[in-house]
Amino acid sequence: MPDRQTVLVTGANGQVGRNICSVFDGSFNVIGLSSLELDVGEAAATHKIFDKVRPDIVINAAAYTKVDDAEANSSLADRTNFHAVRHLCDTCLKHDCLLVHFSTDYVFDGEATRPYSEGDQTNPLNAYGRSKLAGDNYIIENSKQYLIFRLAWVYDHADVNFPSKILHAAKVKDRLKVVDDQIGTPTSAEFVAKNVHQLITTGGADKNQRYNNVYNLVPNGEASWFDFAIRLLSRADALGFNLKCKAEDVMPIKSSHLAQPAKRPQRVVLDNRKIQQELGIRFALWDAYIDDFLEQLRRQNENI
Ligand SMILES: NC(=O)c1ccc[n+]([C@@H]2O[C@H](COP(=O)([O-])OP(=O)(O)OC[C@H]3O[C@@H](n4cnc5c(N)ncnc54)[C@H](OP(=O)(O)O)[C@@H]3O)[C@@H](O)[C@H]2O)c1
Repeated sequence: MPDRQTVLVTGANGQVGRNICSVFDGSFNVIGLSSLELDVGEAAATHKIFDKVRPDIVINAAAYTKVDDAEANSSLADRTNFHAVRHLCDTCLKHDCLLVHFSTDYVFDGEATRPYSEGDQTNPLNAYGRSKLAGDNYIIENSKQYLIFRLAWVYDHADVNFPSKILHAAKVKDRLKVVDDQIGTPTSAEFVAKNVHQLITTGGADKNQRYNNVYNLVPNGEASWFDFAIRLLSRADALGFNLKCKAEDVMPIKSSHLAQPAKRPQRVVLDNRKIQQELGIRFALWDAYIDDFLEQLRRQNENI
């Protein structure tokens, strides 16, 4: 039996990083490093880790993801989402390893009337999107072995995110207001990790053809944050969660009421046919992953 390949995961305590580590564990020798163990913005530390670990694959799940804060801190966003990606890409080239990276739906402006294909024109509306796009472009222009997965609206049971905030608020408030004029595709971090694993491990297809590609990686369908909230609360209600605010008590509002510092695209639906074709599978609709999220959340926190 051949030796297992070594996978270095950066940002291993984030939503995607954590799921990547658990899904890859077993079939790979996984070295997951949190931001405290490796600050990817420190080029010298990155080189040192590569020399020590000698990875076959680097999965960069580290990112500055505070979309609103990035408006006032664009240099911090650039540090992690562009400059660190540049170092990682150059170091992967030097060590001849595959770089797996994650991009965002926020590289698009949301003006299209149809789902965005991987090659469509980008035009980020905010500092976070610009920093991520700079990282993507550097990899595409310089890497010899890469995979970029473009994600949207990522959530995981172990983190503070939109669905966990909605559930906690619904326990204590009898009414909630949620925006209905931003549309995307809620994407579970476990779904992301499983499909990245499958794309890397599935044999047969020509790896040269599969690598050096951008793949949109989201489930099927689309939703507004309002749709997401009411679907989440109706499933939570059906599963016996103790809620003060039920799905019918959620009121739709417009984004203009939130005064969010970062401008967001109104509607970005990612066309995910390329990856489904590559994997030879059909993804479920976005809301099929909600029950798993709720069950995992309940296992983690029995009081919910
Ligand atoms: N979340 C979304 O809705 C979404 C949507 C589209 C695309 N994406 C992309 O998907 C990827 C994963 O996102 P996620 O949802 O897993 O984000 P996340 O939960 O915020 O995780 C990001 C991780 O990166 C770490 N990190 C930040 N700066 C770092 C640095 N300089 N060095 C090392 N680690 C650092 C963070 O650690 P600390 O917490 O300690 O700072 C955190 O653990 C990112 O590339 C993101 O841009 C996310």
